[in-house]
Amino acid sequence: MHQRKDNMGSSWQDHGLSAPVEAFHEAFDGLPPTHFSRAPGRVNLIGEHTDYNGLPVLPMALRQEVRILFRPREDGTVRMANRNPEFPIRSFSLSEDIPPDPAGDWGNYLKAPCQALTGLLGPLRGLDGLVTSTLPVASGLSSSSALVIAVAQALLHANETQVPTLDLAEEMARAERYTGTQGGGMDQAIALGARAGHASRVEFDPLRLYEIPVPPDWRFVVAHTLVRAEKSGWAREAYNQRNQECQEAIRRIRMALSESEVAGTEALTYPELTARFSIKNLLELGRTHLSGPLLGRFRHVVTETLRVYRSEEAMRQEDLLAFGILMDASHESLRADYEVSSPELDRLVALAREGGAAGARLTGAGFGGCVVALTDPFRLDRLMRTLEQGYYRSPRHPHRLRDVLFVAQPSGGASVEEV
Ligand code: GLA
Repeated sequence: MHQRKDNMGSSWQDHGLSAPVEAFHEAFDGLPPTHFSRAPGRVNLIGEHTDYNGLPVLPMALRQEVRILFRPREDGTVRMANRNPEFPIRSFSLSEDIPPDPAGDWGNYLKAPCQALTGLLGPLRGLDGLVTSTLPVASGLSSSSALVIAVAQALLHANETQVPTLDLAEEMARAERYTGTQGGGMDQAIALGARAGHASRVEFDPLRLYEIPVPPDWRFVVAHTLVRAEKSGWAREAYNQRNQECQEAIRRIRMALSESEVAGTEALTYPELTARFSIKNLLELGRTHLSGPLLGRFRHVVTETLRVYRSEEAMRQEDLLAFGILMDASHESLRADYEVSSPELDRLVALAREGGAAGARLTGAGFGGCVVALTDPFRLDRLMRTLEQGYYRSPRHPHRLRDVLFVAQPSGGASVEEV
């Protein structure tokens, strides 16, 4: 497995619009942008690798976001530049069948929403856009879905049309599979549906968001391993493999149940399974009918689902210690049963606990990217110091500390605004 530690660009923290507006002029024949579309990244607090099984997740949106300055065009062309020089300008024609760029190319995250919306709404006018981002790329904070959502909103706005939020989130979750990742629907749902100051329990099929106020004295700290988990690259295979293993695990459970003539189990889904059986019975079913990695994957998915509901309860009751214990258990399950952690993620989680966090876990797909740790305001400084001194002291790492180690602010969902 190839992992890269490298410079993720200095433009993430470029919050002001004046420099990007100038860059827009330069990229697009001196004409000014009319609007900008913004979509936040997210930190998933708990419920990892459950969404593509139709099971709930508990994320919140971040202040860090993708922004696209744009100007509608008269024709059906989309031209998109990026302030991050890692991503060269891309240009294509809108259609229901847009030929993809090579796997891993950022252009596919532009084409995915454009193809889907053209399929849904018919011929559309295109736009010129310039992307800026304050989200680290490939960090488990959903920079790719934020881009997809920002493009979708810009395109809708350029065509003076709208799609209801939850429908758009479901459409975009499907659309993103254009990039080759068999993802779930968490990232698109929270990027569009988040409310400031709140986390959301997201349920699927049909999509629903249940808002939970984040207790004012809870601090969720995000810390980056500095290892990129390229979901468009090597991590995609590992990610898709987990999805397939989950499908295989439930297929075997389904077969075993219908062979033992348990009524109505021929087409059982994960949500039906977890609703119908107690956790004790689910674990028993797993032990009896599965082994090796499939048993681990199944055990993670069913125990993680229970942890999501318990965490929601803990958050509503402002029980920080209980929430922390559930985060720790989630990480252990992702490490041992789901096998998506890495030495760097484990190291940051261990340091967070040493630093007094109530709990810590990897967030997002894993294989690199970030951890999230929970603490209260009194222990925050100690936690930040322990992480900083234990992980980011190396003079070799080229990042500004506040880009890779920060307190997450529960933020609102995507929007389009005038420049
Ligand atoms: C990625 C995907 C999400 C989800 C997480 C793991 O972020 O985009 O849909 O599956 O991994 O929980």
